[in-house]
Amino acid sequence: ASLQPYNTFGIDAKATLLAEFTSKEELQELLQHPQVKALPKLILGGGSNVLFTQDVEAAVLLNRIKGITQAPQEDQEHVLVTAGSGETWHDLVLYTIEQGLGGIENLSLIPGTVGAAPLQNIGAYGVELKDTFYSLEAVEMETGQTITFGKEECNFGYRESIFKKEAKGRYIVTSVTLQLTRNPTFNTSYGAISNTLEEMQVKELSLKAISDAVIHIRRTKLPDPAKIGNAGSFFKNPEIGLAQFDILKEQYPTMPGYPVSEHTVKVPAGWLIEQCGWKGKVLGKHGVHKDQALVLVNYGGATGNEVKALAYEIIKSVEEKFGISLSPEVNII
Ligand code: EPU
Repeated sequence: ASLQPYNTFGIDAKATLLAEFTSKEELQELLQHPQVKALPKLILGGGSNVLFTQDVEAAVLLNRIKGITQAPQEDQEHVLVTAGSGETWHDLVLYTIEQGLGGIENLSLIPGTVGAAPLQNIGAYGVELKDTFYSLEAVEMETGQTITFGKEECNFGYRESIFKKEAKGRYIVTSVTLQLTRNPTFNTSYGAISNTLEEMQVKELSLKAISDAVIHIRRTKLPDPAKIGNAGSFFKNPEIGLAQFDILKEQYPTMPGYPVSEHTVKVPAGWLIEQCGWKGKVLGKHGVHKDQALVLVNYGGATGNEVKALAYEIIKSVEEKFGISLSPEVNII
């Protein structure tokens, strides 16, 4: 079966076996199936963070678990919202805005599913999933057992969690619970948001206004995967030491950087890549997006290996020019 419809890069890789599940019980049944049991497993939600470089010798399981419920908490202010892991992330965001529940409005329009969100602790415009994350339920592939992970146990970091490290490949997330609030404090700390709100002449802040501003920014900067194959940021923003940052800053006075600790600074990879001359580069069927150098694109018909080769050339040139090594944010399979 071709995986082309199931990855936003639009890469035509084949899977040994393809099946979908719409509930936890269906998933547990699938895991018992001899053919599935015999193969390694790969779970796909929206397929918006993978790059296939070869055929996938695995049972690819498509997560289609839907449903959103809410449970008010005793303090009258917080509400626990639980969503099936196969829900589209942005649909959950729209639901919470409609319900007047604050916390994830800055995360509007991030591609992918609810179940994938905790794996890489999705983040944008000053907010990360971990800020509202409460718990998740997962099925252990080996045993079929249901396990609940609290926030601490997920070990969230910048685009990181236990599910990309120690627990990698062991669990399938079936639902995610967020703690949202009826009295939101709006987060407009990210420059682009306040500028856009001004441009849009928003007089009174609301969840909807913030969400609309974020949607507007994303639509102008990031390519729509439905039109041009891509998986969002291809690289993580690297963290470098303050000493190295100061030296580079002397040589490149316009270099942006955000302090993350007393001794480390995060540098936008998009800026580094642009400085190396990659922004807007088209190489046959693939290239670097013209408005955001952090995003690699497939204009149609590129292979995963072509995109991967480009990624490694970019890594090499950034390393040579700045002495900074970029690491991929996308899962290369
Ligand atoms: N920049 C450039 N050239 C570029 C791109 C960016 O000079 O081609 C500069 C911008 O001028 C700005 C800075 O880099 O000074 C930051 O750019 P931007 O606001 O676009 O954000 P980013 O750091 O490039 C990160 C996330 C995005 C997220 C935005 C907004 C990572 C890897 N990426 O990008 O996440 O939407 O911040 O918060 O952290 C994703 O993970 O797929 C993703 C899109």
